[in-house]
Amino acid sequence: MVLRLRSIVLYTLFLSVFGLFIYFYKDTKTEIGTIVPRKADAQKQEFVFWALPSKKVIQCSPNESVVNASSTFPELHRIFLMYRHCRNFSTLIMPKECEKDTFLLLAIKSHPMNIDRRIAIRNTWGKRQEFQGKKIKLVFLLGKTEASVPAKSLDQLISYEDKEFNDIIQWNFLDNFFNLTLKELHFLRWFTEGCSHTSFVLKGDDDVFINTYNIVEFLLEMDAEHELFVGDVISNAFPIRNPKVKYFIPSEMYNKSHYPLYAGGGGYLMSRRTTQHLLRTAESTELFPIDDVFVGMCLEKMNVTPQYHAGFKTFGIRKLVNPFDPCLYKGLMVVHKLNPTEMWIMWTLVNDEGMHCAQSKNSL
Ligand SMILES: *[C@@H]1O[C@H](CO)[C@@H](O)[C@H](O)[C@H]1NC(C)=O
Ligand SMILES: *[C@@H]1O[C@H](CO)[C@@H](O)[C@H](O)[C@H]1NC(C)=O
Ligand SMILES: *[C@@H]1O[C@H](CO)[C@@H](O)[C@H](O)[C@H]1NC(C)=O
Ligand SMILES: *[C@@H]1O[C@H](CO)[C@@H](O)[C@H](O)[C@H]1NC(C)=O
Ligand SMILES: *[C@@H]1O[C@H](CO)[C@@H](O)[C@H](O)[C@H]1NC(C)=O
Repeated sequence: MVLRLRSIVLYTLFLSVFGLFIYFYKDTKTEIGTIVPRKADAQKQEFVFWALPSKKVIQCSPNESVVNASSTFPELHRIFLMYRHCRNFSTLIMPKECEKDTFLLLAIKSHPMNIDRRIAIRNTWGKRQEFQGKKIKLVFLLGKTEASVPAKSLDQLISYEDKEFNDIIQWNFLDNFFNLTLKELHFLRWFTEGCSHTSFVLKGDDDVFINTYNIVEFLLEMDAEHELFVGDVISNAFPIRNPKVKYFIPSEMYNKSHYPLYAGGGGYLMSRRTTQHLLRTAESTELFPIDDVFVGMCLEKMNVTPQYHAGFKTFGIRKLVNPFDPCLYKGLMVVHKLNPTEMWIMWTLVNDEGMHCAQSKNSL
């Protein structure tokens, strides 16, 4: 109940900050650089005591010699290439280290703005801290939003979230699609420093439904000291050469016809051994803008074959009669693309002891 109350308070705060965001966004567009103090500023003052101490900025200058070579690429690709060598960013917020006997770490990539999703996760599948005597820990992996007036309020809100739940890691790089590989790399470094006794890691997005019961049961038979990488594995995926598509990769950036085997970034499982091995390999691998493909490239170098498991539906459930059939979720491990409301509904249904499911659900 207390937790729920906190969530409501946090959610209300989130909505007011979001309001501020819209307000200032409109403002800065019309009258550049002349933000007149208004009533909203008085409201802003309330956040000040949560303000983060300012951190040292690590300088990394752009690589000018790629400017000419990439002049025909879309802007994000050019920026990516110019900053690809920048791989060390400072940590702004860090949770407590994992306890030595943590069994499963749920590491969820989340954009700072997605407070609603984090609230839903903390109150649904993320709230179990133990199952069958095995400890589970939840952390959210965040970058930074673009600097602007409301971003400051968002920072303060996140700092409040951190104090309240202590489950946030935030690094000092921009949180966008092309920087997800940086998130992967920094997560692996943090794991190796602060969580290295944890047996298994589930890395996922903040719009997935994770059936922690099924995951723990699956892992009980596994050995953390063996290589293990399981997920929704894709084979023979090819680079998209159409510049209008989000996943566009020009042949200058990747010239083979196919990507190596990789698991969809929505959710995959790794053993401690594989996680540590992955860090060593990632440190010596050039960054690639698509994070799950980057992990696939590292696994290939490591000679670890990602294993396909039908319980991982990271590309959504396709040919289904009723995607809201809770029995379906009972049998699955990770399901992608749920909004916070759907997550609450599914959690309630999956936990309904009185619900009886027919046996065979293998028609996925
Ligand atoms: C880029 O191209 C311009 C004009 O083609 C040239 O003047 C400049 O030296 C080039 N810069 C680099 C870093 O190669
Ligand atoms: C800058 O880019 C050039 C061309 O891609 C590359 O050869 C060089 O190693 C890069 N420099 C750094 C510091 O990464
Ligand atoms: C990043 O840090 C590592 C050690 O922590 C160092 O070896 C490496 O040179 C650094 N890279 C850059 C680009 O600063
Ligand atoms: C990734 O983050 C760094 C640091 O904030 C930023 O300089 C860079 O432009 C970002 N990369 C992309 C592709 O946006
Ligand atoms: C592909 O790129 C690699 C290194 O970037 C290069 O060694 C190789 O020759 C390229 N292959 C083709 C077919 O262009």
